[in-house]
Amino acid sequence: MNDAHMPVMCDEALHALALRPGMRVLDATAGCGGHGLGILERIGNAGTLIGLDWDDEALAIARVRLQRKGWDVRLRRRSFTELKSVLAEEGIQEVDAVL
Ligand SMILES: C[S@@+](CC[C@H](N)C(=O)[O-])C[C@H]1O[C@@H](n2cnc3c(N)ncnc32)[C@H](O)[C@@H]1O
Repeated sequence: MNDAHMPVMCDEALHALALRPGMRVLDATAGCGGHGLGILERIGNAGTLIGLDWDDEALAIARVRLQRKGWDVRLRRRSFTELKSVLAEEGIQEVDAVL
């Protein structure tokens, strides 16, 4: 995957998540961060994005793309089958939305 990857149905997915500032969101297949960017723009500095992907290359692109001062972005190279343990490691009891 490369940074030209276009996130699928991005507007529809973000609309369905009904995102608001301050929300904690889990993106279980973060990829290159296309959906992640839209999520962060909506949850803002008070929000948290936890992004999982098992593809290192994609995550490297996402890390660059989602770097913005004040954003709380936690990208982890893990399978989404491990999301419970990742959240526990992050000290997060619950999230407000999952993509
Ligand atoms: C369609 S892409 C996601 C694109 C991403 N939403 C974006 O906006 O760039 C699907 C991603 O799912 C990841 N993936 C597939 N199975 C996975 C698994 N079990 N755990 C973590 N990531 C997985 C792939 O590595 C790929 O990056």
